[in-house]
Amino acid sequence: MELKRIVLGVTGGVAAYKAAELARLMVKDGLDVQVVMTEAARHFVGAATFQAITGHPVFTDLWDERVDNGMAHIDLTRGADAILVAPASADFLARLAQGSASDLLSTLCLARDCPLLLAPAMNRQMWEAPATRRNAAQLEADGVTLLGPDCGEQACGEVGFGRMLEPDDLLDSLAARFQPKRLTGLKVLVTAGPTFEPIDAVRGISNTSSGKMGYAVARAALEAGAEVTLVTGPTCLTPPRDARTLRVTSAQDMLSKVEEAADHHDIFISVAAVADYYVLNRSEQKIKKDAHILTLELAPNPDILANISSRPKPPFCVGFAAESENVEEYAELKRRRKHLPLIVANDVTEAVGADEVQLVLLDEAGKHVLEKADKHIQARRLIAHIAQLYNTRYQ
Ligand SMILES: Cc1cc2nc3c(=O)[nH]c(=O)nc-3n(C[C@H](O)[C@H](O)[C@H](O)COP(=O)(O)O)c2cc1C
Repeated sequence: MELKRIVLGVTGGVAAYKAAELARLMVKDGLDVQVVMTEAARHFVGAATFQAITGHPVFTDLWDERVDNGMAHIDLTRGADAILVAPASADFLARLAQGSASDLLSTLCLARDCPLLLAPAMNRQMWEAPATRRNAAQLEADGVTLLGPDCGEQACGEVGFGRMLEPDDLLDSLAARFQPKRLTGLKVLVTAGPTFEPIDAVRGISNTSSGKMGYAVARAALEAGAEVTLVTGPTCLTPPRDARTLRVTSAQDMLSKVEEAADHHDIFISVAAVADYYVLNRSEQKIKKDAHILTLELAPNPDILANISSRPKPPFCVGFAAESENVEEYAELKRRRKHLPLIVANDVTEAVGADEVQLVLLDEAGKHVLEKADKHIQARRLIAHIAQLYNTRYQ
């Protein structure tokens, strides 16, 4: 099932400010988000923020007259694919566990006909209190999904369990629950980001790859039920929580990690923008400035994808071809040269660092255009295509 419409419940906790970022990420991911806040939540963050982010008025009051038939407690969840309450306060867990319908959000949860997910957020002692433990256990027994909480530093300065999961982790967990499990039982290896080729102790050559596409592909593979290893060059991004992440710097480092891992993986998706050259006359120490012209000697780096795809028993290999001209023609040549069942062509002048891209998939059957969309959406479409090709080939 594909997620389309979500009711985002926000209750009164300090983490309510993070719900605004969560709403923003959801909207960016293509979801239609209807926010319902408790009275207490409005002390922490303003309804106008959510209204501006989601484009929908925010509801709080059971007696709100803006809903035509006066039945907001039922109407708001009709047609919704899920309710996610983030943050969910200790008091809200208690109300839900009791089956209370004393405010709009708890009434919506009671009257729902869709899955309910809660992201608890509270002080660690509130979370560990016997009453909260009982309420959490009761809710799980009632079929409610609890996402987190996490362990870490809390707003009150204490450290322990009770911290709300970060917005991107919440969105991942939510999306994963609703994505078709096309890759269950399979292991997927993904490379992402740029590589960095040192010139001296502090300088180096890199490129403008942000890592966004590779991280999105890793996420989409996790959502599809795969076990994922992400080999990443230096990026500013947070890797998906459930991926095994190996951080590397140079192309040579990346090759070593990929070579070690490739035998144990069913699918290899090479998204990283690996530097074509490394610096041969690299200096261990920081090079001092003087009046001379400095010449860097560049030698070709190993081709990681070709190295893996030319093995006697390669995993199912997928390449990315970032080109600035003759995009599809060059990509198809690369696909044939490296014996790849699938290559993803994109125009480097549009794709690098951007959030939205158009992708062209080239395989034995020909060309499939994935019209411009956010990289997360494209990654899911790509994973669906890979799963289909993989299953046709091996099952
Ligand atoms: C400054 C402040 C911070 C609070 N932070 C939390 C919190 O992080 N988690 C929580 O469960 N309750 C927290 N509370 C208590 C809730 O706001 C309170 O239980 C409220 O009744 C919850 O209402 P609601 O569940 O309808 O939103 C806090 C209260 C105050 C005054």
